[in-house]
Amino acid sequence: MHVLITGGSSGIGAATALAYARTGARVTITYNSGPDRAAGIVKRIEEEGGQARAVHLDLEDHATIAPAVAETGPVDALVANAVRWGNIPPGSVPFEGVPAAEWSAMMHANVVGNALLVQAVLPAMRRAGWGRIVFVSSGIGEEGVPGPGVYGTAKMALHGMARALAWEAGGDGILVNVAVAGLTVTGVRPFPQELLDRLAARTPSRRLSTADDMAALIVFLGSAANRNLTGEIIRDGSNAGRSAHAL
Ligand SMILES: NC(=O)c1ccc[n+]([C@@H]2O[C@H](COP(=O)([O-])OP(=O)(O)OC[C@H]3O[C@@H](n4cnc5c(N)ncnc54)[C@H](OP(=O)(O)O)[C@@H]3O)[C@@H](O)[C@H]2O)c1
Repeated sequence: MHVLITGGSSGIGAATALAYARTGARVTITYNSGPDRAAGIVKRIEEEGGQARAVHLDLEDHATIAPAVAETGPVDALVANAVRWGNIPPGSVPFEGVPAAEWSAMMHANVVGNALLVQAVLPAMRRAGWGRIVFVSSGIGEEGVPGPGVYGTAKMALHGMARALAWEAGGDGILVNVAVAGLTVTGVRPFPQELLDRLAARTPSRRLSTADDMAALIVFLGSAANRNLTGEIIRDGSNAGRSAHAL
């Protein structure tokens, strides 16, 4: 099995690459600004006896997408995990303060970029009569948080894309799902412990997920273990209740 994981150089994507490789899958990860981080993940996988390589892909620069997929070759599974986080920190400006250019940039990268990515991998999956696609989303879109909502809006567009694709590609053996992360402790960004404790207390399992927890969900959705689950929006247990992000 060959898997393409965008944003595999960091956080949830890196954990997912390691988890897939441990199942025996060959993985290709993409990076944007961090070739060294990506090389580090490839090295870790190889040291464990797995097969991995890294290619450059920038969701903001659409011209990089088809060449990255061509360099990757046919894949059995795609994990659309990479994200342009955006230039508007939560709470920094009111809704009316977001420039049109930022709305456009977020949709250009996170929505249109992922659509082009799927367009690039689909023909080979259709020819093979088998495929798995997993979009990585965020509870922020569904729950709603105070603020401009650009990131959440872009994530919700992926839910619509996945629902449509499930119908569009299902007849060719391709299953498409969304893995919705809540606040996930990846070690990449530090969060105040008080915030982590407060959010954990609002989750059903009273704990926040790690990158490895998310990776396990993604690997299940994006492998043969998932026999016929498609078009679903699967929320990881790290998703706190509604308004939990109203910090
Ligand atoms: N961590 C959380 O709490 C959390 C919560 C909800 C949802 N999520 C979602 O989970 C996914 C992974 O999040 P994470 O926390 O693991 O993120 P992360 O550690 O910040 O990693 C982001 C990845 O995306 C890549 N990337 C950034 N800009 C890109 C671009 N323009 N084009 C292509 N790739 C780009 C980065 O590559 P380089 O480093 O090489 O630039 C990196 O590999 C995202 O879709 C995110 O929205 C995360």
